[in-house]
Amino acid sequence: MNEVIDQHLIEQLSTIASGLASVHDLASFAEEVERALTVLVDAEYNGLYLWDFEAMRLRLFVARGFSEEERREAERTAWDRHPGSIFRQPRMIHIPDVELDGGRQTQSSARAFAVRSRLFMPVMYQRQPLGVFGFGSSRVNNFASRDIEVLKFVCRLTGVVYRQLLDRMARQRVESELAGALEQLKVANVDLQHARDQALDATRAKSAFLATMSHELRTPLNAIIGYTELIIEEYAAGADPGLTRDLVRVDASARHLLGLISDVLDLSKIEAGKFTLHAEDVDLASLIASVDAACRPGQQRSDNRFVLDAPERLPALRADATALRRVLINLLGNAHKFTQRGVVTLRIGEQEVGGARRVVFTVEDSGIGMSEAQVRRIFDAFTQADASISRRFGGTGLGLAITQQLVHLMGGDIGVTSAPGLGSTFSLWLPVAPPS
Ligand SMILES: Nc1ncnc2c1ncn2[C@@H]1O[C@H](COP(=O)(O)OP(=O)(O)OP(=O)(O)O)[C@@H](O)[C@H]1O
Ligand SMILES: [Mg+2]
Repeated sequence: MNEVIDQHLIEQLSTIASGLASVHDLASFAEEVERALTVLVDAEYNGLYLWDFEAMRLRLFVARGFSEEERREAERTAWDRHPGSIFRQPRMIHIPDVELDGGRQTQSSARAFAVRSRLFMPVMYQRQPLGVFGFGSSRVNNFASRDIEVLKFVCRLTGVVYRQLLDRMARQRVESELAGALEQLKVANVDLQHARDQALDATRAKSAFLATMSHELRTPLNAIIGYTELIIEEYAAGADPGLTRDLVRVDASARHLLGLISDVLDLSKIEAGKFTLHAEDVDLASLIASVDAACRPGQQRSDNRFVLDAPERLPALRADATALRRVLINLLGNAHKFTQRGVVTLRIGEQEVGGARRVVFTVEDSGIGMSEAQVRRIFDAFTQADASISRRFGGTGLGLAITQQLVHLMGGDIGVTSAPGLGSTFSLWLPVAPPS
């Protein structure tokens, strides 16, 4: 007879287990638990409290035999009654006769008065409490030890399934957040591509425009400069000094404008990949003399001392002399511009790195220096370390952008170290002969 009953029980349990194992959300989970309790528990009042990890409280998840009002009260007071105490300190509590238990009943509903025996079991997964089962019966001594063993099994199963559900929900949340982020990324990417296409189009248009305008712009400016010089020379002797002064200003402004236009045009030529270099054996001595001469006005304006620190025998170098001259004039021009009554040093040396010889130029000044943030931006076109600089010192912020591009084109590199108030040191190296 016992065997027959056990066979029946085993079938019931296996149905319950496979039902619970197949749930996919909290609602179907609650239904399965409720179904299991209906089949297995011969008690009028059954509650399953589960820990809600988001709300951080016990929720009455399944409540059989409770009116809606009782259910609300049970959930609200759960933490202060047996469910809460068992959740905090997981252990099974069996009260065969409530009246002998000293009336430790805190609820005041009709159900509370009807209950004569109680059973509480913690729902655990491994060592983590996840909730509490509570059973109440109107009969004294309702829960036999065999029933308790069966309920323990259901309780363990509930713990495993709830943990799995929580993990799955967390995974789904992460997956859907990820999918959302991916979607946003895709949208941003499309925008970015669009912006890039536009920028490329704009660059192409700019290059084409500048290529055709280059001649158009330089020719009239050169004419203005040429004729202004002519007028100054031919009429200077007899002219009124005010007129001569004005003509000199016209000449200076025109040259300044020509310099600017050349810079802009050259930079876009470099960016368009249309700037070609011509390597030759560089006569460093005469190159340095011409650089020094070009920087002399700036040096005098700032009242700086210029020091040349170079070996007796200057290194041999094959490079585009015009580009190198321009690079050094830019660096020395800056050094004099941003240093007052200080020292500007041009150092020339040779180095061997990985078996390859390099010529190294260092321009060091004792001027205003730059912060780390400023240093990071100075090689970008049209950027100056700070906006007040263009007001104080003039310039367009193209010098270093061109300088860096030229150095790269020549197969070398340039870097800078600087600190506010402590001067700046620009170092560049070039291969002794250009890369083929
Ligand atoms: N030796 C230096 N000391 C301090 N700041 C410097 C020095 N060299 C460059 N800078 C900073 O870097 C900025 C960019 O220099 P860059 O030569 O590109 O432009 P610019 O000299 O302002 O204008 P341009 O050279 O086009 O006439 C400068 O405006 C300045 O703020
Ligand atoms: Mg400059």
